[in-house]
Amino acid sequence: CGIVGIVGHQPVSDRLVDALKRLEYRGYDSAGVATITEGSLHCRRAKGKLINLETRLKEEPLSGTIGIAHTRWATHGAPTERNAHPHFTDGVAVVHNGIIENFAELKDELAAAGAEFQTDTDTEVVVHLLARHRREGMGRGEAMHAMLKRVRGAYALAILFEDDPSTIMAARNGPPLAIGHGDGEMFLGSDAMALAPFTNAITYLVDGDWAVIGKAGADIFDFDGYPVERPRQTSTAGAYLANKGNRRHFMEKEIYEQPEVIARALGHYINFEGNRVDTVSSIDFASIPSLAISACGTAYLAGLIAKYWFERYARLPVEIDVASEFRYREIPLPPESAALFISQSGETADTLASLRYCKGRGLKTGAVVNARESTIAREADAVFPILAGPEIGVASTKAFTCQLAVLATLAIGAAKDRGTLTEYEVKALVRSLAEMPGVMGRVLNSIQPDIELLSRELSKCHGVLYLGRGTSFPLAMEGALKLKEISYIHAEGYAAGELKHGPIALIDENMPVIVIAPHDRFFNKTVSNMEEAAARGGRIILITDENGAAASKLDTMHTIVLPAVDEIIAPMIFSLPIQLLAYHTAVSMGKDVDQPRNLAKSVTVE
Ligand code: G6P
Repeated sequence: CGIVGIVGHQPVSDRLVDALKRLEYRGYDSAGVATITEGSLHCRRAKGKLINLETRLKEEPLSGTIGIAHTRWATHGAPTERNAHPHFTDGVAVVHNGIIENFAELKDELAAAGAEFQTDTDTEVVVHLLARHRREGMGRGEAMHAMLKRVRGAYALAILFEDDPSTIMAARNGPPLAIGHGDGEMFLGSDAMALAPFTNAITYLVDGDWAVIGKAGADIFDFDGYPVERPRQTSTAGAYLANKGNRRHFMEKEIYEQPEVIARALGHYINFEGNRVDTVSSIDFASIPSLAISACGTAYLAGLIAKYWFERYARLPVEIDVASEFRYREIPLPPESAALFISQSGETADTLASLRYCKGRGLKTGAVVNARESTIAREADAVFPILAGPEIGVASTKAFTCQLAVLATLAIGAAKDRGTLTEYEVKALVRSLAEMPGVMGRVLNSIQPDIELLSRELSKCHGVLYLGRGTSFPLAMEGALKLKEISYIHAEGYAAGELKHGPIALIDENMPVIVIAPHDRFFNKTVSNMEEAAARGGRIILITDENGAAASKLDTMHTIVLPAVDEIIAPMIFSLPIQLLAYHTAVSMGKDVDQPRNLAKSVTVE
């Protein structure tokens, strides 16, 4: 899931592992390093966390001033040491992110010609193809070009040839790759953050590019082998070099950062003095007949909440789906409509494919992203940054609420442009948004003791149901997703009204039901659903506001009371107990909160 490379004049092995640590947040299950010393390739690999690779390197150090390294998130082949990258044969070593889709056919062909495969991975075909081309007498560049013509799929590749201890070859089609320019040294990384301590001068490869990187610079070629120039940018990633401050985990730090980052995000879109939204963009919300939204994971749930806002306030019909379905559903999208893509990383493969699909059909596209230098940001017609700052915890928290804040301003802006809200109504909504950072701060300062108590109960459960209505329904799904991601407790989020159509069968005294119910238009209906669960022995945890707590007569197992807020900001405020509940439950169970098993932060494969 992460690639780094250094070609320099100092030993590289320790620096490669340090750079891998800065990519750890992306999630991985094995790791490895290869360097060239005294004319030959050497590799060290280990299953599990980077500490295991460091231990291997202590036992058997690697010298060399050129090297590549990798953290792997398994796609083809179990996460074992044997399947860990780099893969090597006949003087070629390769690390790879992505999936080689035609690997089975290539493997058969190569095996028939005598290649001996050592691993179960798709990546190994790249190594054997390169080795074969070299045996056929091709030069390194020629072999690289020929290999790229044969493989199909998504890849970021870094390659060492034993007979050239002064260059790293790289190629990109899908997962990102950044070349870093140093002082007499050059670097390669999956993102600028990995390279931040080395350099802030970055050149991003674009899809189809491949590069020959030496100590003094890089030559970049397009897919057809013609030299191309790609701009050198100054990255700001160094300013954000991630540290946990005085918090135990990045996730905790990111939860508590929310008042500050939300204020920054809102400040970008809102003119607080005039209570106006100032969204200047190439999407003309006034004229489009409908809006499509596509995203994955938590970003998709932010989109689902935004659907309620765009439809209610701007009377704009919204078509929304998870990106992996959206891209293949052959949705009849009117070309005069627009589409929004929500992604923290800006690199999620399915979301990117949905964006390209919509662009291909003539729709105007907008990207709601955190990583402004990402592929999705680069390819969309309009970019709406969420300004959350780097999010390191795999379970998304501050990116989710910043996505919501930005989407709320877009929906209000669309309502203003479409004339579906009066000026007075717009001002009232903007005033509520402006209050949000302050309310968030107060909530974060007050609910922790309650949450810790409750999380000790939850940590004993095998399953939890989350219920909500209106925008609290997607929030119920987000609550369940957060809990399962980091505590591995099975959890599901349902529309409160759906309870009786199936999930009610699960309810007994061992299945807590978390009901998210601000005192809004739906409160009484949600309370009825809560009664249905309580009547069957379900233990209710009610998350409501002061008005809801006063109105509810039900005997709950626990009630978390938040300040009463306007409906538009309720999803962001109610996100806080939900995030903290998942966090403290996982911590009390001793789980690896920032890097939960099997998950990756940035999923660049389909
Ligand atoms: C991964 C992460 C999720 C995230 C999803 C979408 O699955 O583990 O936390 O919500 O990808 O990521 P994106 O970067 O597109 O928001």
